[in-house]
Amino acid sequence: MMLHIPAVLSGAQVSAMRARLGHADWVDGRATVGDQGARVKRNRQLPAACALAQELGAEITAALAANPLYFAAALPLRAVPPLFNSYAGGEHYGAHVDGAVRAAAGGQSLRTDLSATLFLTEPGEYDGGELVVSDTYGEHAVKLAAGDMILYPASSVHRVEPVSRGERVCAFFWIQSMVRDDARRAMLLELDRTITRLRARLGDCEDTVSLTSQYHNLLRMWAET
Ligand code: NI
Repeated sequence: MMLHIPAVLSGAQVSAMRARLGHADWVDGRATVGDQGARVKRNRQLPAACALAQELGAEITAALAANPLYFAAALPLRAVPPLFNSYAGGEHYGAHVDGAVRAAAGGQSLRTDLSATLFLTEPGEYDGGELVVSDTYGEHAVKLAAGDMILYPASSVHRVEPVSRGERVCAFFWIQSMVRDDARRAMLLELDRTITRLRARLGDCEDTVSLTSQYHNLLRMWAET
């Protein structure tokens, strides 16, 4: 399942982050990938340990904690603190798959069920730079407004097209979901959205309460916590 989550950050938040990232000390993005990724990755990142990445990452984490669509779609158990990357001057990231397990906070590790990219530059500021995700239905090119985020299966092969003009700045991170199976997670999201629409139309009645209990019983059956 791929899902566009609009307005994770406000325009003011994006502007403030961009101003601070304009003075950042970017390093070669190949520092954080394995052999296959290093062969195809040409971009710059902020070191995960730098204070700026940690402060801005915490701001994004706080914004996501208040975002009901993110919670309903990802059903997050834990997430890697957001990292930041920049592409300019033809930089790109060729076809690759994200590593299955990553180090998380507090010495823990997490299974990467979902990948997330949060755009911090407007599409008109750069040419190229589409995130292209492959699935059984073909390739999906993603280029979103600043402040918007795409969630996609970490198991997918994906790439970032060369940025031929301007600069593309994004935050990115990985999530271990309480529900590891993508199809089950997609069903729960659809059920959740249907219940929300029915409650808006009908209010709370016997049937909406029954559907809500079925949602929670499915989640109880599938969730790992
Ligand atoms: Ni990737």
